[in-house]
Amino acid sequence: MSTARALRLHAFGLDNLTLEEITLPALGPLDVHVRFHAASLNYRDLMVVLGDYNPKLAMPRIPGSDAAGEVVAVGHAVTSLKPGDRVASLFFQQWEEGQINAATGKSALGGPIDGVFATERVMPASGLIRIPNTLSWDEAATLPCAALTAWNALVEKGQLRAGETVLVLGTGGVSIFALQIAKAHGARVIVTSSSDDKLARAKALGADELINYRTTPDWENEVIRLTHGIGVDHVIEVGGAGTLQRSLKAVRVAGQIHLIGVLTGKGATIDPTPILGRSIRINGVYVGSRGMFERMLAAFAQNNIRPVFDRVFTIDEYRAAFEQMQHGAHFGKIVLSLA
Ligand SMILES: NC(=O)c1ccc[n+]([C@@H]2O[C@H](COP(=O)([O-])OP(=O)(O)OC[C@H]3O[C@@H](n4cnc5c(N)ncnc54)[C@H](OP(=O)(O)O)[C@@H]3O)[C@@H](O)[C@H]2O)c1
Repeated sequence: MSTARALRLHAFGLDNLTLEEITLPALGPLDVHVRFHAASLNYRDLMVVLGDYNPKLAMPRIPGSDAAGEVVAVGHAVTSLKPGDRVASLFFQQWEEGQINAATGKSALGGPIDGVFATERVMPASGLIRIPNTLSWDEAATLPCAALTAWNALVEKGQLRAGETVLVLGTGGVSIFALQIAKAHGARVIVTSSSDDKLARAKALGADELINYRTTPDWENEVIRLTHGIGVDHVIEVGGAGTLQRSLKAVRVAGQIHLIGVLTGKGATIDPTPILGRSIRINGVYVGSRGMFERMLAAFAQNNIRPVFDRVFTIDEYRAAFEQMQHGAHFGKIVLSLA
């Protein structure tokens, strides 16, 4: 029987997340034994741990949706992967292509089923995707949730075109990928942040216009000014309750709001009038499929998009990694080394 190290949540709260030894199950015919080298944190992982994601979460639970590593062994019926292959986890273990459906959500890693904050896992081959040699383990581990969500929003649903303007809220994982994807498509990008230092880093990545939402709390007016009274074509809306009403003002007539996150909270009273009066399209976005992931990998390779991460924590430093996310101190992604 082989064992691995994994983070396991026994009750809500960071104090109840422990690094422990787990026993790996026997390899089924369609399973893969994978050794993960790196993982990355998403805001969702923090919500899962704190109990803000699903208050009925079954315990104990291994959190984490994003990891990259190498195949150690495959079950006898696996034809898609072989030992030595470099792979990343798929956020949804069951979403190959097409529209999301009700069953997809139940296959999300690190929520309804155990996740990948583990040095090794035995999991279905269908829940992994091959990654190119040009990506490091740390880079590949940032892609499954944040990058794919930004890609799905702007490219798959949003059909982003060169010359359009994209408003990106904040400088976390999803937002920085959105900035990079938008620039690679020839868009003009406006970035908001609470920090001038982070805005300077966004500028270095190609951001065209910068707004500090702390010193400019009515940032939607500044967006309107920067777009000559028209508004933006796309909003990467990660704020939720506290930002949606402002995003509705910042978007142009018939523009799109990609509704992704709830960083500022969930429940809100939103005036729906502008949505119909200005024909705004609101896209609910929930990560993406394997097909989208493959197209995203191709585009990243063609445009040399390199994932941006702030700091790499060792697995033993997991608590500090979660705390950094909690304090919003990071820029882009936070990586957890599992080596
Ligand atoms: N729907 C989906 O499929 C999906 C997928 C991934 C993530 N999400 C959600 O999207 C959100 C972002 O996730 P993430 O992993 O990218 O988070 P993250 O890396 O923790 O990003 C946090 C950043 O958001 C910014 N922020 C916080 N409050 C803000 C506000 N009022 N206005 C503008 N920006 C604000 C801050 O940027 P500054 O420090 O620059 O101010 C903060 O650093 C979360 O709610 C997450 O649950 C949803």
